[in-house]
Amino acid sequence: MTLIDARNMPRHVGIIMDGNGRWASQRDEPRSEGHRAGSRAVRRIVRLARRIGIEALTLYAFSFQNWARPEDEVSALMVLLQEYLLSEREDILGNGIRLAAVGELDQLPPEVRGVLEPLCRESQPNDRMTLTLALSYGGQEEIASAARALAKDYAEGRIALADIDAKALGERIPSQRVGEPDLIIRTGGETRLSNFLLFGSAYAELFFSDRLWPEFSDEDFFTAIASYQRRQRRFGQVVS
Ligand code: IPE
Ligand code: IPE
Ligand code: MG
Repeated sequence: MTLIDARNMPRHVGIIMDGNGRWASQRDEPRSEGHRAGSRAVRRIVRLARRIGIEALTLYAFSFQNWARPEDEVSALMVLLQEYLLSEREDILGNGIRLAAVGELDQLPPEVRGVLEPLCRESQPNDRMTLTLALSYGGQEEIASAARALAKDYAEGRIALADIDAKALGERIPSQRVGEPDLIIRTGGETRLSNFLLFGSAYAELFFSDRLWPEFSDEDFFTAIASYQRRQRRFGQVVS
């Protein structure tokens, strides 16, 4: 905690939680055990983020492309997601966390939607931190559906052609409701975005960690924030 400056916190942090499978292989365990360990790390990092005053945390939990993984892995992930939502319910409601979800949510199994949707609704008045889960989420898919919404608004006379700009598109992108991410962290050693927050990441600071997600520690999170705080953000401008 002493590493970081409380006056210069990233407002919105996104995390690409990668490396669960490799964590499990290193232990000769099935990939589902890696995801189980990953969900323990989620609990820990969510609590930490709330405690240190992060306003918005967006976690990449399951990509649109992840549906193509083996069926048993996908169903293990869905069970873990359901368990996470059930076990964290009181913590979310009692600690001022507003839960939101972005992605192609109608593809999620009914058991997951049955716990996700009421919790999002009930936690809506909370305002200490917004926790957004990116589920069945793809940045390209999200931009495509915003383009579809714009086309519909144009066809039905709600928007003029000349008013279709980045702002109008952004207003139709659900992951943008909490604003653009200031810092995107990816664990697991890969240095790519893998379809995460493509629209909002335009000027995000990126931090790549070799740590596998289940081992991403509180200290690693502070290190990422400290790195963010050493950077000068210019947004294409000249800063003296
Ligand atoms: C990230 O870990 C979790 C999800 C994608 C759901 P992975 O499962 O991608 O783990 P690796 O990258 O294979 O180690
Ligand atoms: C990104 O990780 C998705 C999540 C962390 C949920 P992947 O493991 O799916 O990404 P690639 O395949 O390495 O690009
Ligand atoms: Mg991976």
